[in-house]
Amino acid sequence: MGAATSRVSSAGAEQVREDGTIRVAVVGLGYVGLPLALEFARGGAQVLGIDVDERKVTAVNAGHSYLLDVDADALGAAVADGLLSATTDFNALAGTENICICVPTPLRKSLDPDISHIVAAVEEVAKHLRRGMLVVLESTTYPGTTEEIVLPRLEAGGLKAGVDFHLAFSPERVDPGNTRYAIRNTPKIAGGMTRACTERAVKLYQFAVDEVVPVHSPRAAEMVKLLENTFRAINIGLVNELAMICNHLGIDIWEVIEAAKTKPFGYIPFYPGPGLGGHCIPIDPLYLSWKLRTVNYTARFIELAATINSNMPHYVVEQVTDVLNTDRKSVNGSRILLLGVAYKPDVADVRESPALDILALLRRKGAVVAYSDPYVPELDLLGERYASHDLAHGVKDFDLVLVTTNHSAFDMDAILASAQVVYDTRNATAGRKIPEGCRVVRL
Ligand SMILES: NC(=O)c1ccc[n+]([C@@H]2O[C@H](COP(=O)([O-])OP(=O)(O)OC[C@H]3O[C@@H](n4cnc5c(N)ncnc54)[C@H](O)[C@@H]3O)[C@@H](O)[C@H]2O)c1
Repeated sequence: MGAATSRVSSAGAEQVREDGTIRVAVVGLGYVGLPLALEFARGGAQVLGIDVDERKVTAVNAGHSYLLDVDADALGAAVADGLLSATTDFNALAGTENICICVPTPLRKSLDPDISHIVAAVEEVAKHLRRGMLVVLESTTYPGTTEEIVLPRLEAGGLKAGVDFHLAFSPERVDPGNTRYAIRNTPKIAGGMTRACTERAVKLYQFAVDEVVPVHSPRAAEMVKLLENTFRAINIGLVNELAMICNHLGIDIWEVIEAAKTKPFGYIPFYPGPGLGGHCIPIDPLYLSWKLRTVNYTARFIELAATINSNMPHYVVEQVTDVLNTDRKSVNGSRILLLGVAYKPDVADVRESPALDILALLRRKGAVVAYSDPYVPELDLLGERYASHDLAHGVKDFDLVLVTTNHSAFDMDAILASAQVVYDTRNATAGRKIPEGCRVVRL
């Protein structure tokens, strides 16, 4: 491994220690931080995870994985080999030279960025900042955060970035549930405050990632992430709009997309659905539009896409109402089963999941709602506890089955065999034989 033998000579830093190892602290051991910590350990680094959540720290130290994407055996081996440990104590930063910050960046109720976790983590790091350290922010955030929020807090103690320590931004591109692209084979972007900062960050990530792509500033690196996720949010907004347009015109959007994607150039397929979910696509573009409002610029595409995407759960409920109406049933009193509450297939993450919005909207209209999700055994929503319906009991007792997440574990043929009516927002029923007595309506 190249990085283990190369040294970065700047700011008095010796990234690689005398014994050829490097030490890395990963602050925030969630969907982003834990896989990154493990990949660093696999690359031979000595890794310390820091999290405010004691349960996560205990689990890591016991070699237990709490994420589907993090292989329990690999985690256990890294802990057993002494390459990975975790703590809630920031004093442990005294034993490391490299710090990656992977804390959450949610939205406030007002849809403005909530960077309080970044501020809290950076203030802790600042207390332990030493000459020669590298600090990298990985949390997705608006352009300017590293320079405007992180830099002054780190420099408050008198050390100067690029001179005494290094500072960079490197967006995380992990795609939970993606079995083809994980941390190591997904190129990583790094942009430092100075050229030396960028070089140092590039060298660090070479321990965990096959290819690191340098850019000229933290701002550019922050913007790369927002370009990628804004691209997705807008294209999903466009195809959701087209799904509604097709519905008005009596055209099957899924057939149209299948045909359009045979064009070998100039077209990338995106698919409609019940709305955006997860910690990234619904949130990240709003960080950018917030930043633009501070300079009096309206990010029109972003705001339009957000309006369309956030309306999708309402649209789905309207469609469900119409489908039940055809059978002379009302939503009020109907038993409706949501298939899948995770925000996307084959993950357990329910953050921002549109299925939760749909569940709440249907319940507000008086429906008796249940859900089934192999990855989410229980759910607390609006003061009520739900347990996942066991599909072995069939679905015949439900007036309508609503496909909200197309987990590959769902046996759609078995579900269709016992369902009365299915409303499919994911095209999960495509190409399947619809048994007599079952009616399927697609988004
Ligand atoms: N989840 C994804 O797919 C994904 C992908 C790319 C980028 N991101 C970005 O990465 C960042 C982290 O996301 P995540 O999904 O890993 O979040 P997460 O909620 O899964 O994990 C964050 C962890 O940080 C810990 N934490 C919070 N405040 C802390 C503090 N002050 N000090 C130490 N630990 C603290 C939390 O306890 C939690 O374990 C976000 O900015 C997100 O937008 C997420």
